[in-house]
Amino acid sequence: MRLTVIGTGYLGATHAACMAELGHEVLGVDVDPEKIAALRAGRVPFYEPGLGELLVKHTESGRLRFTTSYEEAAAFGQVHFSCVGTPQRKGSDAADLTYVDTVIESLAPHLRGPALVVGKSTVPVGTADRLAARLAELAPAASAVELAWNPEFLREGFAVQDTLSPDRLVLGIRSAAAEARLREVYAPVIAAGTPVVTSDFPTAELVKTAANAFLATKISFINAMAELCETAGADVSVLAEAIGHDARIGNRFLRAGVGFGGGCLPKDIRAFAARAEELGTGRSLAFLREVDAINMRRRDRVVELARQLCGGSVHGHRVTVLGAAFKPDSDDIRDSPALNVAARLQLDGADVTVYDPKAMDSARKSYPLLGYALSAEEAVTRADVVLHLTEWREFAELDPHRLASLASHARIVDGRGTLDASRWAAAGWHVRVLGRPPAGVR
Ligand code: UGA
Repeated sequence: MRLTVIGTGYLGATHAACMAELGHEVLGVDVDPEKIAALRAGRVPFYEPGLGELLVKHTESGRLRFTTSYEEAAAFGQVHFSCVGTPQRKGSDAADLTYVDTVIESLAPHLRGPALVVGKSTVPVGTADRLAARLAELAPAASAVELAWNPEFLREGFAVQDTLSPDRLVLGIRSAAAEARLREVYAPVIAAGTPVVTSDFPTAELVKTAANAFLATKISFINAMAELCETAGADVSVLAEAIGHDARIGNRFLRAGVGFGGGCLPKDIRAFAARAEELGTGRSLAFLREVDAINMRRRDRVVELARQLCGGSVHGHRVTVLGAAFKPDSDDIRDSPALNVAARLQLDGADVTVYDPKAMDSARKSYPLLGYALSAEEAVTRADVVLHLTEWREFAELDPHRLASLASHARIVDGRGTLDASRWAAAGWHVRVLGRPPAGVR
Protein backbone atom coordinates (compact mmCIF):
# COMPACT_ATOMS: atom_id res chain seq x y z
CA MET A 1 0.00 0.00 0.00
CA ARG A 2 0.98 3.65 -0.32
CA LEU A 3 1.16 5.22 3.12
CA THR A 4 2.17 8.63 4.40
CA VAL A 5 3.43 9.27 7.93
CA ILE A 6 2.99 12.87 9.01
CA GLY A 7 5.35 14.07 11.75
CA THR A 8 8.78 12.45 11.85
CA GLY A 9 9.67 12.58 15.56
CA TYR A 10 10.20 9.41 17.64
CA LEU A 11 6.82 8.00 16.79
CA GLY A 12 6.63 9.07 13.12
CA ALA A 13 10.20 8.23 12.07
CA THR A 14 9.87 4.79 13.69
CA HIS A 15 6.42 4.18 12.23
CA ALA A 16 7.55 5.23 8.74
CA ALA A 17 10.63 2.96 8.74
CA CYS A 18 8.66 0.03 10.20
CA MET A 19 5.83 0.39 7.66
CA ALA A 20 8.45 0.24 4.89
CA GLU A 21 9.84 -2.88 6.58
CA LEU A 22 6.34 -4.41 6.39
CA GLY A 23 6.50 -3.93 2.62
CA HIS A 24 4.60 -0.67 2.07
CA GLU A 25 5.59 2.35 -0.03
CA VAL A 26 6.01 5.10 2.54
CA LEU A 27 6.27 8.87 2.31
CA GLY A 28 7.33 10.62 5.53
CA VAL A 29 6.10 14.21 5.92
CA ASP A 30 7.41 16.95 8.19
CA VAL A 31 7.32 20.76 8.18
CA ASP A 32 10.95 20.86 9.41
CA PRO A 33 13.22 20.84 6.31
CA GLU A 34 16.32 20.06 8.40
CA LYS A 35 14.72 16.92 9.83
CA ILE A 36 13.63 15.86 6.36
CA ALA A 37 17.13 16.44 4.95
CA ALA A 38 18.66 14.30 7.73
CA LEU A 39 16.15 11.48 7.22
CA ARG A 40 16.63 11.55 3.43
CA ALA A 41 20.35 11.11 4.06
CA GLY A 42 19.57 8.10 6.26
CA ARG A 43 20.35 9.88 9.55
CA VAL A 44 18.02 9.50 12.55
CA PRO A 45 18.04 12.83 14.46
CA PHE A 46 17.84 11.00 17.85
CA TYR A 47 19.18 7.80 19.42
CA GLU A 48 16.95 4.77 18.96
CA PRO A 49 18.52 1.30 18.75
CA GLY A 50 17.92 -0.41 15.37
CA LEU A 51 16.12 2.50 13.73
CA GLY A 52 19.15 3.83 11.82
CA GLU A 53 19.64 0.48 10.09
CA LEU A 54 15.98 0.30 9.00
CA LEU A 55 16.04 3.88 7.76
CA VAL A 56 19.15 3.29 5.63
CA LYS A 57 17.79 -0.03 4.35
CA HIS A 58 14.55 1.51 3.11
CA THR A 59 15.78 4.89 1.88
CA GLU A 60 18.20 2.82 -0.22
CA SER A 61 15.52 0.37 -1.39
CA GLY A 62 13.39 3.38 -2.42
CA ARG A 63 10.41 2.20 -0.34
CA LEU A 64 10.85 5.11 2.08
CA ARG A 65 10.96 8.72 0.94
CA PHE A 66 10.47 12.05 2.68
CA THR A 67 8.85 15.37 1.80
CA THR A 68 7.75 18.67 3.31
CA SER A 69 4.76 18.93 0.95
CA TYR A 70 1.24 18.12 2.12
CA GLU A 71 0.07 18.33 -1.48
CA GLU A 72 2.48 15.60 -2.51
CA ALA A 73 1.44 13.54 0.53
CA ALA A 74 -2.26 13.85 -0.27
CA ALA A 75 -1.72 12.82 -3.90
CA PHE A 76 0.45 9.83 -2.87
CA GLY A 77 -1.21 8.18 0.11
CA GLN A 78 -4.09 5.75 0.41
CA VAL A 79 -3.65 5.85 4.19
CA HIS A 80 -2.25 8.86 6.09
CA PHE A 81 -0.88 8.33 9.61
CA SER A 82 -0.80 11.42 11.81
CA CYS A 83 2.10 11.01 14.26
CA VAL A 84 2.66 14.53 15.60
CA GLY A 85 3.26 15.39 19.25
CA THR A 86 0.77 16.54 21.89
CA PRO A 87 2.97 18.34 24.45
CA GLN A 88 1.72 19.88 27.68
CA ARG A 89 0.06 23.23 26.99
CA LYS A 90 1.96 26.22 28.39
CA GLY A 91 0.45 27.42 31.67
CA SER A 92 -1.89 24.43 31.94
CA ASP A 93 -1.95 20.67 32.51
CA ALA A 94 -4.00 20.06 29.36
CA ALA A 95 -2.59 18.75 26.07
CA ASP A 96 -1.63 21.20 23.34
CA LEU A 97 -3.46 19.96 20.24
CA THR A 98 -2.06 22.56 17.84
CA TYR A 99 0.00 20.06 15.86
CA VAL A 100 -2.79 17.47 15.66
CA ASP A 101 -5.22 20.12 14.40
CA THR A 102 -2.68 21.50 11.93
CA VAL A 103 -2.26 18.08 10.28
CA ILE A 104 -5.99 17.92 9.47
CA GLU A 105 -6.18 21.58 8.43
CA SER A 106 -3.14 21.17 6.12
CA LEU A 107 -3.88 17.73 4.66
CA ALA A 108 -7.68 17.68 4.26
CA PRO A 109 -8.01 20.45 1.61
CA HIS A 110 -5.77 18.37 -0.71
CA LEU A 111 -7.72 15.10 -0.35
CA ARG A 112 -9.48 14.76 -3.69
CA GLY A 113 -9.89 10.99 -3.71
CA PRO A 114 -10.63 8.15 -1.25
CA ALA A 115 -8.31 8.10 1.75
CA LEU A 116 -8.13 6.91 5.34
CA VAL A 117 -6.59 9.33 7.84
CA VAL A 118 -5.34 7.55 10.97
CA GLY A 119 -4.52 9.33 14.21
CA LYS A 120 -1.78 7.75 16.32
CA SER A 121 -1.01 10.56 18.78
CA THR A 122 -2.00 10.48 22.46
CA VAL A 123 -5.00 12.83 22.66
CA PRO A 124 -7.72 13.82 25.12
CA VAL A 125 -10.87 11.74 24.70
CA GLY A 126 -13.26 13.44 22.26
CA THR A 127 -10.53 14.70 19.92
CA ALA A 128 -11.12 12.09 17.20
CA ASP A 129 -14.85 12.91 16.96
CA ARG A 130 -13.98 16.58 16.51
CA LEU A 131 -11.26 15.87 13.92
CA ALA A 132 -13.58 13.58 11.93
CA ALA A 133 -16.10 16.41 11.62
CA ARG A 134 -13.39 18.84 10.53
CA LEU A 135 -12.05 16.35 7.98
CA ALA A 136 -15.51 15.91 6.44
CA GLU A 137 -15.88 19.70 6.24
CA LEU A 138 -12.51 20.36 4.61
CA ALA A 139 -11.83 17.41 2.27
CA PRO A 140 -12.98 17.90 -1.34
CA ALA A 141 -13.53 14.10 -1.56
CA ALA A 142 -15.99 14.48 1.39
CA SER A 143 -17.46 11.09 2.36
CA ALA A 144 -14.71 9.19 0.51
CA VAL A 145 -12.34 10.34 3.25
CA GLU A 146 -12.58 8.73 6.67
CA LEU A 147 -10.84 8.98 10.04
CA ALA A 148 -9.65 6.13 12.27
CA TRP A 149 -7.85 6.14 15.63
CA ASN A 150 -4.98 3.72 16.18
CA PRO A 151 -3.00 4.67 19.30
CA GLU A 152 0.69 3.85 19.57
CA PHE A 153 2.21 2.14 22.60
CA LEU A 154 5.89 2.17 21.72
CA ARG A 155 8.56 2.64 24.35
CA GLU A 156 11.65 4.66 23.57
CA GLY A 157 14.63 2.34 23.36
CA PHE A 158 12.36 -0.47 22.07
CA ALA A 159 10.49 1.55 19.46
CA VAL A 160 11.23 -0.69 16.46
CA GLN A 161 10.44 -3.90 18.32
CA ASP A 162 7.25 -2.40 19.81
CA THR A 163 6.06 -1.30 16.34
CA LEU A 164 6.84 -4.52 14.49
CA SER A 165 5.74 -6.86 17.31
CA PRO A 166 3.32 -4.88 19.48
CA ASP A 167 1.48 -6.36 22.48
CA ARG A 168 -1.79 -5.44 20.75
CA LEU A 169 -3.28 -3.31 18.00
CA VAL A 170 -6.15 -1.01 18.91
CA LEU A 171 -8.30 0.06 15.98
CA GLY A 172 -10.78 2.84 16.68
CA ILE A 173 -13.05 2.73 13.64
CA ARG A 174 -16.45 3.85 12.40
CA SER A 175 -16.84 1.52 9.42
CA ALA A 176 -16.01 -1.99 8.26
CA ALA A 177 -14.09 -0.45 5.36
CA ALA A 178 -11.77 1.45 7.73
CA GLU A 179 -11.17 -1.70 9.77
CA ALA A 180 -10.40 -3.70 6.61
CA ARG A 181 -7.93 -1.06 5.46
CA LEU A 182 -6.08 -1.03 8.77
CA ARG A 183 -5.99 -4.83 8.89
CA GLU A 184 -4.42 -4.72 5.42
CA VAL A 185 -1.76 -2.24 6.60
CA TYR A 186 -0.87 -4.43 9.59
CA ALA A 187 -1.42 -7.79 7.84
CA PRO A 188 2.05 -9.26 8.66
CA VAL A 189 1.82 -8.09 12.29
CA ILE A 190 -1.65 -9.61 12.69
CA ALA A 191 -0.56 -12.83 10.95
CA ALA A 192 2.21 -13.14 13.57
CA GLY A 193 -0.50 -13.45 16.24
CA THR A 194 -0.81 -9.87 17.58
CA PRO A 195 -4.21 -9.44 19.26
CA VAL A 196 -6.49 -6.85 17.61
CA VAL A 197 -9.02 -4.88 19.63
CA THR A 198 -11.56 -2.83 17.68
CA SER A 199 -13.54 -0.06 19.28
CA ASP A 200 -15.24 3.29 18.84
CA PHE A 201 -13.17 6.48 18.85
CA PRO A 202 -13.47 7.47 22.53
CA THR A 203 -12.52 3.98 23.73
CA ALA A 204 -9.47 3.88 21.45
CA GLU A 205 -8.34 7.28 22.73
CA LEU A 206 -8.91 6.24 26.35
CA VAL A 207 -7.04 2.94 25.99
CA LYS A 208 -3.81 4.86 25.45
CA THR A 209 -4.20 7.36 28.27
CA ALA A 210 -5.47 4.64 30.62
CA ALA A 211 -2.44 2.45 29.85
CA ASN A 212 0.02 5.25 30.60
CA ALA A 213 -1.93 6.25 33.73
CA PHE A 214 -1.77 2.66 34.97
CA LEU A 215 1.98 2.43 34.34
CA ALA A 216 2.61 5.75 36.11
CA THR A 217 0.46 4.60 39.03
CA LYS A 218 2.41 1.36 39.31
CA ILE A 219 5.70 3.28 39.54
CA SER A 220 4.33 5.77 42.04
CA PHE A 221 2.86 2.95 44.11
CA ILE A 222 6.26 1.33 44.56
CA ASN A 223 7.83 4.75 45.15
CA ALA A 224 5.26 5.43 47.90
CA MET A 225 6.35 2.09 49.40
CA ALA A 226 9.95 3.32 49.10
CA GLU A 227 9.03 6.37 51.20
CA LEU A 228 7.56 4.09 53.86
CA CYS A 229 10.56 1.75 53.71
CA GLU A 230 12.90 4.70 54.27
CA THR A 231 10.99 5.64 57.43
CA ALA A 232 10.51 2.10 58.70
CA GLY A 233 14.04 0.86 57.91
CA ALA A 234 12.75 -1.66 55.35
CA ASP A 235 14.03 -2.53 51.86
CA VAL A 236 11.76 -1.67 48.91
CA SER A 237 13.67 -3.85 46.44
CA VAL A 238 12.94 -6.97 48.50
CA LEU A 239 9.36 -5.82 49.02
CA ALA A 240 8.90 -5.32 45.23
CA GLU A 241 10.36 -8.73 44.48
CA ALA A 242 8.12 -10.40 47.04
CA ILE A 243 4.85 -8.76 45.96
CA GLY A 244 5.82 -9.16 42.29
CA HIS A 245 5.75 -12.97 42.63
CA ASP A 246 1.98 -12.64 42.83
CA ALA A 247 1.07 -12.95 39.15
CA ARG A 248 -1.83 -10.54 39.65
CA ILE A 249 0.69 -7.84 40.65
CA GLY A 250 3.64 -8.89 38.48
CA ASN A 251 7.20 -7.65 38.90
CA ARG A 252 7.54 -5.54 35.74
CA PHE A 253 7.43 -1.74 36.05
CA LEU A 254 7.83 -2.05 39.79
CA ARG A 255 11.30 -0.57 40.13
CA ALA A 256 11.48 2.08 42.82
CA GLY A 257 13.80 5.02 42.23
CA VAL A 258 13.89 8.67 41.30
CA GLY A 259 10.63 8.21 39.41
CA PHE A 260 9.27 8.49 35.91
CA GLY A 261 10.11 11.19 33.41
CA GLY A 262 10.16 11.50 29.63
CA GLY A 263 7.95 13.03 26.99
CA CYS A 264 4.94 10.80 27.78
CA LEU A 265 4.05 9.59 31.27
CA PRO A 266 4.29 12.93 33.16
CA LYS A 267 2.39 15.04 30.64
CA ASP A 268 -0.10 12.28 29.80
CA ILE A 269 -1.31 11.81 33.39
CA ARG A 270 -1.68 15.58 33.77
CA ALA A 271 -3.62 15.92 30.51
CA PHE A 272 -5.77 12.91 31.45
CA ALA A 273 -6.71 14.42 34.82
CA ALA A 274 -7.31 17.82 33.20
CA ARG A 275 -9.60 16.22 30.60
CA ALA A 276 -11.59 14.39 33.28
CA GLU A 277 -12.09 17.71 35.07
CA GLU A 278 -13.30 19.31 31.81
CA LEU A 279 -15.78 16.47 31.42
CA GLY A 280 -17.04 16.95 34.98
CA THR A 281 -15.60 13.64 36.23
CA GLY A 282 -12.50 15.08 37.87
CA ARG A 283 -12.94 12.88 40.97
CA SER A 284 -12.41 9.72 38.90
CA LEU A 285 -8.82 10.71 38.17
CA ALA A 286 -8.06 12.81 41.26
CA PHE A 287 -5.65 10.04 42.34
CA LEU A 288 -3.43 10.88 39.36
CA ARG A 289 -2.56 14.19 41.06
CA GLU A 290 -1.21 12.11 43.95
CA VAL A 291 0.65 9.83 41.52
CA ASP A 292 2.30 12.95 40.10
CA ALA A 293 3.08 14.34 43.57
CA ILE A 294 4.69 11.08 44.77
CA ASN A 295 6.78 11.06 41.60
CA MET A 296 8.04 14.62 42.10
CA ARG A 297 8.79 13.95 45.81
CA ARG A 298 11.34 11.32 44.79
CA ARG A 299 13.35 14.04 43.07
CA ASP A 300 13.14 16.12 46.28
CA ARG A 301 14.39 13.11 48.23
CA VAL A 302 17.53 12.79 46.10
CA VAL A 303 18.24 16.50 46.55
CA GLU A 304 17.75 16.05 50.29
CA LEU A 305 20.08 13.03 50.45
CA ALA A 306 22.75 14.93 48.52
CA ARG A 307 22.47 17.74 51.07
CA GLN A 308 22.70 15.34 54.01
CA LEU A 309 25.77 13.63 52.56
CA CYS A 310 27.44 17.03 52.09
CA GLY A 311 26.85 17.87 55.75
CA GLY A 312 23.66 19.96 55.43
CA SER A 313 24.29 22.09 52.34
CA VAL A 314 25.57 21.43 48.85
CA HIS A 315 26.80 24.99 48.47
CA GLY A 316 30.38 24.93 47.18
CA HIS A 317 30.42 21.11 46.97
CA ARG A 318 31.23 19.16 43.83
CA VAL A 319 28.26 16.99 42.83
CA THR A 320 28.54 14.39 40.06
CA VAL A 321 25.37 13.29 38.30
CA LEU A 322 25.64 10.00 36.41
CA GLY A 323 22.91 10.07 33.77
CA ALA A 324 21.03 12.77 31.92
CA ALA A 325 18.53 10.84 29.75
CA PHE A 326 15.13 10.13 31.32
CA LYS A 327 15.92 6.44 31.00
CA PRO A 328 18.75 4.29 29.59
CA ASP A 329 19.06 3.46 25.87
CA SER A 330 17.64 6.87 24.97
CA ASP A 331 19.08 10.33 24.45
CA ASP A 332 15.74 11.91 25.35
CA ILE A 333 16.05 14.40 28.20
CA ARG A 334 12.44 15.59 28.27
CA ASP A 335 11.36 15.91 31.92
CA SER A 336 14.42 13.91 32.93
CA PRO A 337 14.59 13.37 36.72
CA ALA A 338 18.41 13.31 36.50
CA LEU A 339 18.68 16.76 34.93
CA ASN A 340 15.92 18.16 37.11
CA VAL A 341 17.89 17.12 40.22
CA ALA A 342 21.16 18.37 38.70
CA ALA A 343 19.66 21.79 37.93
CA ARG A 344 18.17 22.15 41.42
CA LEU A 345 21.48 21.36 43.09
CA GLN A 346 23.25 23.81 40.84
CA LEU A 347 20.76 26.50 41.86
CA ASP A 348 21.57 25.61 45.49
CA GLY A 349 25.20 26.51 44.82
CA ALA A 350 26.67 23.11 44.03
CA ASP A 351 29.32 22.68 41.35
CA VAL A 352 27.52 20.04 39.27
CA THR A 353 29.15 17.80 36.65
CA VAL A 354 26.99 15.54 34.47
CA TYR A 355 27.95 12.53 32.38
CA ASP A 356 25.65 10.45 30.16
CA PRO A 357 26.67 7.93 27.48
CA LYS A 358 24.24 9.31 24.84
CA ALA A 359 22.40 12.43 25.97
CA MET A 360 25.30 14.89 26.33
CA ASP A 361 24.49 17.07 23.33
CA SER A 362 20.83 17.59 24.17
CA ALA A 363 21.65 18.08 27.88
CA ARG A 364 24.29 20.70 27.07
CA LYS A 365 21.84 22.58 24.85
CA SER A 366 19.02 22.64 27.42
CA TYR A 367 21.17 23.03 30.57
CA PRO A 368 24.19 25.08 29.46
CA LEU A 369 25.07 26.12 33.01
CA LEU A 370 25.81 22.61 34.24
CA GLY A 371 29.30 21.16 33.92
CA TYR A 372 29.86 18.17 31.63
CA ALA A 373 32.51 15.44 31.61
CA LEU A 374 33.49 13.10 28.79
CA SER A 375 33.45 9.93 30.87
CA ALA A 376 32.11 8.61 34.16
CA GLU A 377 35.66 8.53 35.59
CA GLU A 378 36.28 12.14 34.64
CA ALA A 379 32.92 13.14 36.15
CA VAL A 380 33.63 11.37 39.45
CA THR A 381 37.14 12.81 39.81
CA ARG A 382 37.24 15.10 42.89
CA ALA A 383 33.50 14.61 43.55
CA ASP A 384 32.13 15.23 47.03
CA VAL A 385 29.01 13.21 46.26
CA VAL A 386 27.93 11.10 43.27
CA LEU A 387 24.28 10.71 42.23
CA HIS A 388 23.38 7.73 40.02
CA LEU A 389 20.15 8.82 38.31
CA THR A 390 19.86 7.00 34.95
CA GLU A 391 20.54 3.27 35.04
CA TRP A 392 22.81 2.86 32.02
CA ARG A 393 24.50 -0.58 31.98
CA GLU A 394 27.86 1.21 31.77
CA PHE A 395 27.31 2.59 35.30
CA ALA A 396 26.53 -0.84 36.79
CA GLU A 397 29.86 -2.03 35.34
CA LEU A 398 31.98 0.78 36.86
CA ASP A 399 34.80 -0.22 39.21
CA PRO A 400 33.94 1.26 42.63
CA HIS A 401 37.53 0.75 43.92
CA ARG A 402 39.00 2.83 41.12
CA LEU A 403 36.31 5.51 41.48
CA ALA A 404 36.84 5.69 45.26
CA SER A 405 40.47 6.62 44.55
CA LEU A 406 39.35 9.42 42.20
CA ALA A 407 36.57 11.00 44.29
CA SER A 408 37.28 13.53 47.06
CA HIS A 409 34.67 11.83 49.21
CA ALA A 410 33.36 8.34 48.39
CA ARG A 411 29.65 9.04 48.86
CA ILE A 412 26.96 7.92 46.44
CA VAL A 413 23.18 8.06 46.14
CA ASP A 414 21.82 5.30 43.92
CA GLY A 415 18.59 6.81 42.63
CA ARG A 416 17.78 3.78 40.49
CA GLY A 417 18.71 0.88 42.76
CA THR A 418 20.71 -0.89 40.05
CA LEU A 419 24.23 -0.60 41.47
CA ASP A 420 25.59 -3.46 43.57
CA ALA A 421 25.42 -1.57 46.88
CA SER A 422 27.46 -4.11 48.86
CA ARG A 423 30.27 -4.01 46.26
CA TRP A 424 30.37 -0.21 46.44
CA ALA A 425 30.25 -0.27 50.24
CA ALA A 426 33.08 -2.84 50.30
CA ALA A 427 35.12 -0.46 48.15
CA GLY A 428 34.77 2.23 50.82
CA TRP A 429 31.71 4.10 49.56
CA HIS A 430 29.00 5.46 51.80
CA VAL A 431 25.99 4.27 49.80
CA ARG A 432 22.41 5.54 50.04
CA VAL A 433 19.83 3.78 47.87
CA LEU A 434 16.31 5.19 47.56
CA GLY A 435 13.94 3.00 49.56
CA ARG A 436 16.65 0.97 51.26
CA PRO A 437 18.47 1.22 54.59
CA PRO A 438 21.85 3.04 54.47
CA ALA A 439 24.94 0.93 53.72
CA GLY A 440 28.65 1.68 53.83
CA VAL A 441 31.48 2.65 56.09
CA ARG A 442 31.28 6.41 56.57
C1 UGA B 1 5.90 5.15 27.87
C2 UGA B 1 5.08 3.85 27.90
O1 UGA B 1 5.81 2.82 28.59
C3 UGA B 1 4.77 3.38 26.48
O2 UGA B 1 3.96 2.21 26.52
C4 UGA B 1 4.04 4.51 25.76
O3 UGA B 1 3.74 4.15 24.43
C5 UGA B 1 4.93 5.75 25.74
O4 UGA B 1 5.21 6.14 27.10
C6 UGA B 1 4.18 6.84 25.03
O5 UGA B 1 3.15 7.31 25.56
O6 UGA B 1 4.51 7.15 23.89
P1 UGA B 1 8.51 5.70 27.51
O7 UGA B 1 8.16 7.10 27.83
O8 UGA B 1 9.38 5.38 26.34
O9 UGA B 1 7.14 4.84 27.26
O10 UGA B 1 9.24 5.12 28.78
P2 UGA B 1 8.98 4.01 29.90
O11 UGA B 1 9.78 2.82 29.59
O12 UGA B 1 7.53 3.84 30.14
O13 UGA B 1 9.62 4.74 31.16
C7 UGA B 1 9.04 5.93 31.66
C8 UGA B 1 9.76 6.38 32.90
O14 UGA B 1 9.44 5.53 34.00
C9 UGA B 1 11.28 6.41 32.81
O15 UGA B 1 11.76 7.61 33.39
C10 UGA B 1 11.71 5.20 33.63
O16 UGA B 1 12.98 5.38 34.19
C11 UGA B 1 10.63 5.16 34.68
N1 UGA B 1 10.41 3.83 35.28
C12 UGA B 1 10.00 2.79 34.52
C13 UGA B 1 10.59 3.65 36.64
O17 UGA B 1 10.95 4.60 37.38
N2 UGA B 1 10.35 2.42 37.21
C14 UGA B 1 9.95 1.38 36.45
O18 UGA B 1 9.75 0.28 37.02
C15 UGA B 1 9.78 1.55 35.09
